[in-house]
Amino acid sequence: MTEHQTIPLAGVIGWPIAHSLSPRVHGHWLARYGIAGHYVPLGVTEADFGVALAALPKLGFVGANVTMPHKERAFALADSRSEMATRLGAANTLVFDPSQGIMADNTDGFGFIENLREKVNGWDAGAGPVTVLGAGGAARAVIVALIEAGVPELRLLNRTKARAEALRDEIAPTVSVLDWGEAENALAGAALVVNATSMGMEGGPDMALNLHEIGPDTVATDIVYARGETPFLTAAKGRGAKIVDGFGMLLHQARPGFERWFGHAPEVDENLRRAVLEC
Ligand code: ATR
Repeated sequence: MTEHQTIPLAGVIGWPIAHSLSPRVHGHWLARYGIAGHYVPLGVTEADFGVALAALPKLGFVGANVTMPHKERAFALADSRSEMATRLGAANTLVFDPSQGIMADNTDGFGFIENLREKVNGWDAGAGPVTVLGAGGAARAVIVALIEAGVPELRLLNRTKARAEALRDEIAPTVSVLDWGEAENALAGAALVVNATSMGMEGGPDMALNLHEIGPDTVATDIVYARGETPFLTAAKGRGAKIVDGFGMLLHQARPGFERWFGHAPEVDENLRRAVLEC
């Protein structure tokens, strides 16, 4: 019997991949639960993606995470797809099943909601309107997850309005698209404000939005993880808002894959956070 038949392998496929934190997340869990398995970074270019994906199950992989730029391609090449992946047209978690082939799921929205639930005691999707800033790839999973969670009203703003309208028409017909210049109105009375733009990210453009409608009753969250607090979160905190950074989303989105591949439901806690951030 070869080793791969007894020791399950998984990994994250992307390009570039060196900065991915996923190997640290899964590596910590494997060690902590004493599971004989491995999780590795897999740097694969777009040109090689199809061949690489087809080879993985034959190499002893039980599944993989997929990140930029392969999420749509992974979805298209899968043999079966979860409802969430189908709605988004993109996959971040693949399970390789000997009889069913490549099964595609998308757990980004799950990670987003679980992070809020962990960080905001008693977080209630029904608490009030939600405002999402940004309509890029990262916003899509979050918007669908918020609608599924039952938010009463979702206001979507993007610098390029046509992109927000396209997102609405494609995956979220109930969202209200507002002009970027209407940020004040869009933020008024919002229970949750989600920054899904690259504004204020490391290496990204400055935060250029008036946030004075944000107050102590607002939860403000960033969906992309940046080391340290982003200017968006700093500004929201300065206005008394409860802030939630994007790091937990990364940790929570990893849970369903780990459980499927390695047979143990993992926990997100301070030990994990420390292990992932220690570089
Ligand atoms: P991702 O997949 O991570 O969301 P993306 O698709 O490049 O990345 O989207 C980046 C988001 O940040 C978009 O909503 C983008 O707005 P546009 O669609 O108008 O480009 C937003 N963004 C980037 N720079 C911005 C800026 N200076 N002001 C406002 N929004 C900005």
